[in-house]
Amino acid sequence: MQAVQDECAVLAQALHDDLAQLLSFALIQLDIAQAASTEPGDYRDAALRHGRDLIKDALRTTRDVIGSLLDAAQPTAPTFDAQCLLLAGEIGRITRQTIDVDCAPITAAPPPAVATVLLRAIRELLANAGKHAPGARVRLSLRQDTQHAGGIVLAVSDNGPGFDPQCARPTARGHCGLHRLPAALRKVGAQFTLHARPGLGVRAHIRWSPRLGTASIMASMPAVIKATSS
Ligand SMILES: Nc1ncnc2c1ncn2[C@@H]1O[C@H](COP(=O)(O)OP(=O)(O)OP(=O)(O)O)[C@@H](O)[C@H]1O
Ligand SMILES: [Mg+2]
Repeated sequence: MQAVQDECAVLAQALHDDLAQLLSFALIQLDIAQAASTEPGDYRDAALRHGRDLIKDALRTTRDVIGSLLDAAQPTAPTFDAQCLLLAGEIGRITRQTIDVDCAPITAAPPPAVATVLLRAIRELLANAGKHAPGARVRLSLRQDTQHAGGIVLAVSDNGPGFDPQCARPTARGHCGLHRLPAALRKVGAQFTLHARPGLGVRAHIRWSPRLGTASIMASMPAVIKATSS
């Protein structure tokens, strides 16, 4: 990808420095010739006018191509599914655990502020699997939500020792990763579901859609704002 971007930047520069400059100078010369033409409206004047229009078109086209190449040379932020892949790779390296990743391409990505919270939640769930289920098979999946347009469903699971969520309380001061997840996700309109039982591993689902997001943000607004916007 970086190689393609570099190539686009080089091409844009070459087009600008060579072709666009030549066309600009040719246009100036034609302008001078046209201004010096003794009999406006004669055959020579018409040919000059036509040649000038053609060069003007060529220059405009060249500048459009330069613009497109420069756009293509801009570094693009990784897509949400690519960010999930990168995150799984990073946590896998830290925990030395293989994480099976099954991330479908997402057509409508969540807004950046939501994506940040979702990625933080995945990080915590994958890290938990690495810490509390060493050697287990860990899996991360991402799917487009078939029930809610533009929504996504994330799942993190492991087949480790599992635990009883009723009994799982922060074991020591500052251990609160899992406990903070539901509220943090609710704030951006995501739903969190945890299935965990001793001996049966852990499965966590996060569901987000633009519709859920709007409803949740409205619910967390002060009453006065809700009243004025309804
Ligand atoms: N994947 C898992 N497998 C087994 N037990 C788990 C798993 N995830 C969480 N737990 C249990 O739930 C407890 C609470 O998890 P939580 O993420 O809140 O705390 P922590 O991971 O111990 O600390 P912190 O996340 O703050 O660094 C854990 O201490 C552990 O006993
Ligand atoms: Mg944790």
